[in-house]
Amino acid sequence: MSLSIALTKGRLQKQTIAMLEECGYGVESVKNPGRALVFQDSNKDINYFLVKSHDCITYVEHGVADIGVVGKDTLLEGGKDYYEMLDLEIGKCKFIVATYKGEDIFSKVGHIKIGTKYPSVAQNYFLSKGLDVEIIKIDGSVELAPILGLCDGIVDIMETGTTLKENGLVVLDTVCDISARVIVNKAAFKLKKQEVMAVLNDLERIVKQNASRN
Ligand code: PRP
Repeated sequence: MSLSIALTKGRLQKQTIAMLEECGYGVESVKNPGRALVFQDSNKDINYFLVKSHDCITYVEHGVADIGVVGKDTLLEGGKDYYEMLDLEIGKCKFIVATYKGEDIFSKVGHIKIGTKYPSVAQNYFLSKGLDVEIIKIDGSVELAPILGLCDGIVDIMETGTTLKENGLVVLDTVCDISARVIVNKAAFKLKKQEVMAVLNDLERIVKQNASRN
């Protein structure tokens, strides 16, 4: 039976495709996508879609994609109706709490405002600390928000730490580690078990191979 795999565009795209290539899959067309969004594997009965991270979960939950590759950050923020099967150990970064130097939001008296692209993650984190904060949803360049006075601190992704540093912000705490995960549609896991497991086993082999190289 044929398989459909949703790949997240952007940061994870190149590394995910490189892993599929190492598995021996025919991903030449996805490597040079142009403006196309759907690609046929040249070796296997697999279709690939390139989608935004939140849409990756949606396509998998609705069974349009049997398998998806998406960051743990997106999984933590929303969607539950899938199986999370494998950590690809790529796209490694952290969810952090940050603010500008000299400020400590944890000891601030009064109303605390937090800017973030991830309201659920931020809300859950602060509730776990016993703090009821106001969450302000921001869609990008989150580091700008405390600088301009929109909020006291941020919950965001840190990879290299360069964006924080260049904007005079410091990390106050780490919320959790993040990396790319493979998710599987629940029905596909039953109905296409053999095909799905073959992909998972191939990817797991590359994960182990990469770990032994490092
Ligand atoms: C992410 C994140 C930080 C930055 C961190 O933003 O929200 O802004 O990357 O990376 P660094 O630690 O390596 O500097 P992204 O580049 O995805 O763009 P956005 O701010 O427009 O969402």
